[in-house]
Amino acid sequence: MDKEKFYITTAIPYMNAKLHLGQIYEFILTDVVARFSRLSGRDTLFLTGADEHGQKISKAAEEKGISPQEYVDRMAEDMQRLLKLYNISNDLFIRTTDKKHEKIVQNILIKLKENGDLYKDVYEGKYCVPCETFLLDSQLIDGRCPQCNREVEYVKEENYFFKLSKYEEKIIKHIERNPDFIVPETRKNEVLGILRQGLKDISISRTAVKWGVPIPFDPDHYCYVWVDALINYISALGYSSDNDDLFKYYWPANQHHIGKDILKFHAIIWPAMLMSLGIELPGQIAVHGWLLMGEEKLSKSKGIVLDPDEMSEKYGVDGIRYFLTREISFGQDGSFTDKAFIRRYNSDLSNDIGNLVSRTLVMIEKYRGGTIPHRTLNPVFKQKWDEIKKEAPEYIDDFRFSDYLASVWEFINMANKHIEDSKPWNLAKNENEENCKKLDAVLYEVVEIIRLSTILLSPFMPSTCQKIFSQLGISKNIEEISIEEDGVWGKFEGGTKTGTREILFPRINENQ
Ligand code: ME8
Repeated sequence: MDKEKFYITTAIPYMNAKLHLGQIYEFILTDVVARFSRLSGRDTLFLTGADEHGQKISKAAEEKGISPQEYVDRMAEDMQRLLKLYNISNDLFIRTTDKKHEKIVQNILIKLKENGDLYKDVYEGKYCVPCETFLLDSQLIDGRCPQCNREVEYVKEENYFFKLSKYEEKIIKHIERNPDFIVPETRKNEVLGILRQGLKDISISRTAVKWGVPIPFDPDHYCYVWVDALINYISALGYSSDNDDLFKYYWPANQHHIGKDILKFHAIIWPAMLMSLGIELPGQIAVHGWLLMGEEKLSKSKGIVLDPDEMSEKYGVDGIRYFLTREISFGQDGSFTDKAFIRRYNSDLSNDIGNLVSRTLVMIEKYRGGTIPHRTLNPVFKQKWDEIKKEAPEYIDDFRFSDYLASVWEFINMANKHIEDSKPWNLAKNENEENCKKLDAVLYEVVEIIRLSTILLSPFMPSTCQKIFSQLGISKNIEEISIEEDGVWGKFEGGTKTGTREILFPRINENQ
């Protein structure tokens, strides 16, 4: 049977500054879904990339005294370094200054024009550079940008306009017919609210801002950065190019992951562009909330940043990946505080799983010379596993990461309780035939709980899970695991030697 395909994307961050943990949070959420999708045997394609055009970036380059291209080259390289550091498993990386992408943007502009959806007019109004957004006076709050609360620029230019208003009814119908098109529900209602108020046509070119894709039929004009950026989702697949095999196979995207501030672009403008081009719409727009530090949104200009390098050095990548998915409900804003992090880390990671792995290995070394026995006596563990395995994809489909992890933790804590209840140290003291069998079974059952939990945790903490596998003497690469094949209670045959023990999550002293 052919594998099911799954195409998943993140927003492409602006390359005006180094990434902060809020943007990394989005990569982590998307990565968890992508990794789970591979674990489930789907043919998965995960795209991320860099948004490299626009006024904000040309300004940043100017301030540094270098060319915008040189500037984005550095920034995009740093972004890719951070993707690796955070173990993000993207298959593709697109840059909007790639010549291939630029050509596809131009092809699309020509098509939009041929379809009668572009016209020239004068834009007079405001523009927010940090948000790269045109704003009506009625949208401003105290004369400032409603999104970022910063000052706006006055702009009067002749621009090309896209007939967004033409698609209002069609988009409403699409949303009504596809209840999961925008999740969570609150975001869907927000979009319907905007649509029902009526759409205005939007400006899609600039003459004053030249750091962008030239409009092919009018050399004084450059494409508005958002139109250029949205096209990445199909240009990365080669849409309208000589090689569009990926587009034919993977489009429509199954999930676009974005933050709540860029909802209108993805849920209104992008669908309208696709409708104009006669391309199927993506399956789902999954909208996460903001990562805050205390009460404040992360913001470079306000100096509220969680630096991903400092954070990973301080707390470790897997600790952060775990904390952000366990602690923050999808769609809601969530706060990062050292106190909350350390509490979670020490109790769930250091204690529950870290200690479990460590003491299990110590017992196997001590009582069985480091060889894992193979015997299981208690059917309750298999039942529990089958239940967890059945629920896992449902949790991921609903972005209930925290509930998913809580259910794996129930299993992990069953192993901890099993050790406490059966007291292997007493069984080992008096190893008659019956006790010997019991001891084999406890050790095996605990190992099997660890192995199966590790499989389900691998999308969340890939590098720790690989370490657990090698400590259990399992040579398989965590990325080649399949739930279907490997996620079966009792499948581990034992008889293998445990690997070298290593502390997975050293305890953090809260007072330091
Ligand atoms: O919007 N918490 O880029 P961007 C959570 N280039 N998510 C956050 C966040 C925070 N504190 N701050 C930002 C852009 N994000 C465009 C996207 S896509 C065709 C073009 C999220 O660098 C934000 O919501 O401002 C967005 O989804 C992503 O990071 C990139 O934001």
